Amino acid sequence: MIIYGSEIAKNIKADIKSRVDEIVASGKRKPCLCVILVGDDPASISYVKGKEKACAEIGFASKMITLPQETSEEELLDIVRECNNDDNIDGILVQLPLPKHINAHNIIINIDPNKDVDGLHPLNVAKLYQSQDGFVPCTPQGVMQILKQANVSLAGKHVVVIGRSHLVGSPVARLLLNENATVTMCHSYTQDLSSITKLADILVVCVGKPRMITKEYVKEGAVVIDVGVNRDENGKLCGDVDFENVKEKCSLITPVPKGVGPMTICMLLVNTLKAYEGRING
Ligand code: GUN
Repeated sequence: MIIYGSEIAKNIKADIKSRVDEIVASGKRKPCLCVILVGDDPASISYVKGKEKACAEIGFASKMITLPQETSEEELLDIVRECNNDDNIDGILVQLPLPKHINAHNIIINIDPNKDVDGLHPLNVAKLYQSQDGFVPCTPQGVMQILKQANVSLAGKHVVVIGRSHLVGSPVARLLLNENATVTMCHSYTQDLSSITKLADILVVCVGKPRMITKEYVKEGAVVIDVGVNRDENGKLCGDVDFENVKEKCSLITPVPKGVGPMTICMLLVNTLKAYEGRING
């Protein structure tokens, strides 16, 4: 069975839209997301446009701040601080990666944790690791929603996560552990990868290598979640999983496109609404 994140995202967005309609009908201002983009990386521009479009579709306000590649760390910090102090901004997202001359960590730690809709501020990371309510990064939250909507039980299941980034692999592993799964994390130093992935009831792949995971890596009947977004040698969008090769072997699989990707933006909207409600309610 193929699980389309795009369909799940549609339903969640419809719920958010009706909540925004209620907010607006009650005379309050709309939730507002601010996205900051430094430089002109084509993939980042396309992601940022997608975020702006999603905000417009569900009735959020949005503010896009586009800065030149040469922007200094200090200039970016000033802008982040202005956004922290702007009462009309609920969520702040600094698009990653940042140019090499800017220390991303230094930027992230200066975002107001209550506006940190990316869930990357150390305070929100700590909350995730202590099972406290905070902001959870969007893609991992999207993966969890997909598993939930597909009625995949997690307690006691062996989940193998390939990839350990701060944005996806590490937080998704922690969310799965918080749901009582037995989690194995694999990464670029892992030896004999397929011997480990073949043990997985659920395999979450976030490595960034086009169609790397073939059926030799997958146990019969496994659930396969493909977080990768790559272009193959012909410029075609594809995941980290070789979908055609693997699909017959799994019980459930997410496609690329229309799988995890649409859930990421959807969870950004969820986090922005949460930030708004948290701020409005003090
Ligand atoms: N670049 C790719 N994905 C993301 C994301 O989820 N958040 C941010 N800030 N940058 C990204």
